[in-house]
Amino acid sequence: MYQLLRPLLFQLDPERAHDLTLGLLRLAGALPPVRGTLRRVFAPQHQSSVEVLGLTFPNSVGLAAGYDKDGLAWRGLSTLGFGHIEVGTVTPRPQAGNPRPRIFRIPEERAVINRMGFPGRGADFVFSQLSSAPRPPSPVILGINIGKNKDTPNAEAARDYLALMEKFAPVVDYFAVNVSSPNTVGLRRLQARDRLEDLLAQLAAARRWSPFPRPILVKLAPDLTDAELDDALGAVMDMGMDGVIATNTTVKRQGLRSPVREENGGLSGAPLRQRSTAMVREIYRRTKGELPIVGVGGIASPEDVQEKLDAGASLVQVYTGLIYRGPGLVREIVEGVRGAG
Ligand SMILES: Cc1cc2nc3c(=O)[nH]c(=O)nc-3n(C[C@H](O)[C@H](O)[C@H](O)COP(=O)(O)O)c2cc1C
Repeated sequence: MYQLLRPLLFQLDPERAHDLTLGLLRLAGALPPVRGTLRRVFAPQHQSSVEVLGLTFPNSVGLAAGYDKDGLAWRGLSTLGFGHIEVGTVTPRPQAGNPRPRIFRIPEERAVINRMGFPGRGADFVFSQLSSAPRPPSPVILGINIGKNKDTPNAEAARDYLALMEKFAPVVDYFAVNVSSPNTVGLRRLQARDRLEDLLAQLAAARRWSPFPRPILVKLAPDLTDAELDDALGAVMDMGMDGVIATNTTVKRQGLRSPVREENGGLSGAPLRQRSTAMVREIYRRTKGELPIVGVGGIASPEDVQEKLDAGASLVQVYTGLIYRGPGLVREIVEGVRGAG
C-alpha cells in the first residue's frame, strides 16, 4: 500500500509529509481499535527478544531519534512492530530549529540530508506526551534522546543534559546522550575526551543518586577520526556508560552524486550504511565486545540489519529506510533476520 501512498507523500515538502504521517500515527495511537488493526497488519508474526542494557527488547529493531522528536506519536508508532522507540532529540526549552526548508530527499540515492537543528516543544511538553496516559500494553522499550538548547554554551551543556535526565528518568527505559548532531553549532565538540568525560561524569553521578537509574547510551558521529573515536570510547567506558549508538548522520558527501549534496546538514540513508557499519565493527573491536552497540545508518533490508549485527551491534535502528520503504519495513526486517527476529 505504501507503494501507492509514497508518490503522494513525495509530492509534499518532506517536512510536511513527515508532519502529516506523524499526525496520522498520533491519531491512530489514541484510538484502541485502530491500534489493534495496525498491530495486526504491521507487527511481526515472529520475533526473538534481546536482553541487553538490563532490559528485554521484544526484538532488535528500533526507531531512531528524530522521527518523533516531541513524543507525539510514540503510542501509534509502537503498533508498527518496533522493539524500541527513541523519542527526541528533546531540549530543555522549546526552540524553533533552523529555517525551512531543512529536510531534502534524494530518492535516486535513497538518502536524505537534514539540518533541522533540534526544533521542538521542549521538555515540559514532551514529558506530558510520555506520561499523560499509561504505557500501552506492549513490551516496547521507550528511550529518550537528549540534547542541549542552541543557546546553551558548551561550558554549561551538562546542566541541560542533567535537567533532562532528572525529568525523564521516571517515564523512560533508557537515555541516549546526543553529542553528535551536525546541526547544532559546536555540539560535536562535546565528543572530545575532556569534555565528554566531564559531561558523562556528571551524568553518572546524578544517576547514582537517582531513584530511577536508567541505562545511558552515547550517540556518536560517523565522522570521528580513529583517534577521536578512541577518546570518545575511553570516556564512555571510564565513566561507566552502558553503550553507544553508532551512528548519527554524516557531514561527508562521499559517493553522493545528486546536486542536493551541496545542501548543508547531515546525510542519512543508503550512502551512510557502510561507514556506520565500519564504525560499529571498529567499536566492537576496540571495546573487545564488552560495550553494547546500537547500529544505525542506511538500514533498508534484512541484509542490512544482519550486516550491523555481524559487525557487533546488539540492536539496530532505522529512520531514512522508513521514508523510502514505508512502515512495512519493520515487520520485513524483524521477520527476515536470522538471530534477530
Ligand atoms: C530528518 C532527520 C532528523 C533527525 N533528527 C535526529 C535527532 O533529533 N537526534 C538524533 O540523535 N538523530 C537524529 N537523526 C539521525 C537518525 O537518528 C539516524 O542516526 C541517522 O539518520 C542514520 O540512520 P538512517 O540512515 O536509518 O536514517 C535524524 C535523521 C533525520 C533523517
